[in-house]
Amino acid sequence: MTQPLPDPASPTTYSAPPIARVRNVTKTYASAHTSVTALQDVDLDVAPAQMTAIMGPSGSGKSTLMHIMAGLDTPTSGRVLIGDREISALDDDELTKLRRRKIGFVFQAFNLISTLTVIDNILLPFELDDRKPTTQEREWVDHLVARLGIDHRRDHRPNEISGGQQQRVAIARALATRPDVLFADEPTGNLDSRSGREVMRIMSEAVRDLGQSIVLVTHDPLVAASAGRVVFLADGRPVTELAGTFRAEEVAQTMLDLESDAALDSESDVETGTAHGSHVVTSATEVEAP
Ligand SMILES: Nc1ncnc2c1ncn2[C@@H]1O[C@H](COP(=O)(O)OP(=O)(O)O)[C@@H](O)[C@H]1O
Ligand SMILES: [Mg+2]
Repeated sequence: MTQPLPDPASPTTYSAPPIARVRNVTKTYASAHTSVTALQDVDLDVAPAQMTAIMGPSGSGKSTLMHIMAGLDTPTSGRVLIGDREISALDDDELTKLRRRKIGFVFQAFNLISTLTVIDNILLPFELDDRKPTTQEREWVDHLVARLGIDHRRDHRPNEISGGQQQRVAIARALATRPDVLFADEPTGNLDSRSGREVMRIMSEAVRDLGQSIVLVTHDPLVAASAGRVVFLADGRPVTELAGTFRAEEVAQTMLDLESDAALDSESDVETGTAHGSHVVTSATEVEAP
């Protein structure tokens, strides 16, 4: 690391160094006429061996933040570190390697390869890394498969198993290489509540029993209440958080407050005819008369 990192705005302090760090990250999506600021000067530290939930109204920047932390997207400005590695400074090859070895990602839409069997989907990260799993890694994968209850589905294809089972395969694939941190963007969003609970139980066990670090986006206050910390985003920045002991009711109330703020914002935008939410007009010639 070349420059020292400033302390994050968050008051939370950790004994172990953060597993992921975000510093002054801004992300702007620009098109011909307007640009959307999805993240505005975000600072965030993610503690290791903990589940951190990210919540916020739709469009508040949750997915953008996850993609940038996982190296799936690059910030417009600012820095991102996984452990001590500054991923915002890596070239494409280095980033691909780091992503394959240190980072797991679970999407809402499972993202399995339909032509591969369950076990081949799970072993895909090794294939992509151009290597065979070691004996130890093979044992780990077998353990995961047994633990996730998909052993009897090894040789099935994704379309032959349920949504809950597909998401468990996606989790096994994401954990197969023992990533330093697992990012999961609404992993229970496409599941019925029973399968969703199963998937959450497995992720909580990975944190508790294996010290897995997880960052999870969810809309469900009950799910968030099982995390060690909940960070709330609004308009592209963290605005408040809950940590330590808190209940699902507090999570739900905080979300309601943020959602009504967001609704009020968009109403006043309509009235005054200004740009919407965090959408800003890039060129002065585009500004409408008030
Ligand atoms: N590829 C993109 N191009 C343009 N705008 C985008 C793109 N991805 C996200 N956005 C915008 O950025 C903002 C944040 O999006 P996102 O991170 O997906 O929010 P969330 O996951 O909280 O719903 C939204 O206004 C969204 O429309
Ligand atoms: Mg999203």
